[in-house]
Amino acid sequence: MKKTLAILLAALMLIGMFSFASAEAKTYKVGVSIYQFTDNFMTLYRNEIENYFKTLETDDVKYEITMADGKNDMAEQTNQVRNFITQGMDVIILNLVQTSSADAVIDEIVAAGIPLVLINREPLGDNGDYSYAGILDNPQVCYVGADARQSGTFQGEMVAELDNHGDINGDGKVSYIMIEGDPENIDAQYRTEFSVKALTDAGIEVECLDDQVGNWDQTKGQELCANALTSYGDAVEVVFCNNDAMALGAATAITTAGRKVGEDIYLLGVDALEEAVQLVKDGEMTGTVLNDHIGQSHAAVDAAVKLLNGEEVENYYIIDYVKVNKAYVDAQ
Ligand code: BGC
Repeated sequence: MKKTLAILLAALMLIGMFSFASAEAKTYKVGVSIYQFTDNFMTLYRNEIENYFKTLETDDVKYEITMADGKNDMAEQTNQVRNFITQGMDVIILNLVQTSSADAVIDEIVAAGIPLVLINREPLGDNGDYSYAGILDNPQVCYVGADARQSGTFQGEMVAELDNHGDINGDGKVSYIMIEGDPENIDAQYRTEFSVKALTDAGIEVECLDDQVGNWDQTKGQELCANALTSYGDAVEVVFCNNDAMALGAATAITTAGRKVGEDIYLLGVDALEEAVQLVKDGEMTGTVLNDHIGQSHAAVDAAVKLLNGEEVENYYIIDYVKVNKAYVDAQ
């Protein structure tokens, strides 16, 4: 009798332990808002956020991810953030539509006690980069991105490193057109500035034939490049695009205009989208710059998980770019 009781007791304890263990299993709610789902680069980025969260799941920890499309509309995104707060998200990952709205959004999220990982669009503080008060002052808020000056510099260097340094017609200067991303975005500003600066730093004279806003968009990139080629014809020696989506559009415009990359024109992008890397390989693009969406998305998720676990995070996580020209691609 005593024995039976002891066994019964042990069994009850075991059951108790099990139910205790399963009560411990936790599902964290993660709210992610991306500035615009149609953006090629941010599509790779957000897919990898989801993939990577899945790989971190265990029997005890699950992540329930809600992905929202900001539709390039700050009012829409603010509503999404408010919904995240009402839904009691445990952490928020945010790719701002407008960095000028960073303060307002950070304040609401911090007031709700929810940790926040900002990604890809860096709000600049009074002292420029890495000095945003809303990030420095809130231990629960951090930023994950890349230094866009580096990507611009790499673009310019890839031109400077060519045998003719980009001066196809030998008139002593490099005549270029610039196709810019969203001008409010620091990535666009820096790439525009630093691509050209890398040329002038190398002692190369430059001439800007045209500088237009293509808003990161492929169709717009194609249209702007086609127009510039019509207006300036053979004078265009280099086409700088702030990202690959616009460079893919420009590549189409260049072919349609009967021009040939590597012979009578050069074309540069940023992101290293698969299609762009293929064009570099085929000699239809001079170069692109790897914007490491894997490294960035993993850093963002790792930071989110740390915040969920109550661990300390850095204020800023900055992931390196990599120069991708033909030599690089062929060596891969
Ligand atoms: C990427 C662009 C993208 C933008 C979105 C940039 O870092 O290079 O392709 O459109 O981020 O904010």
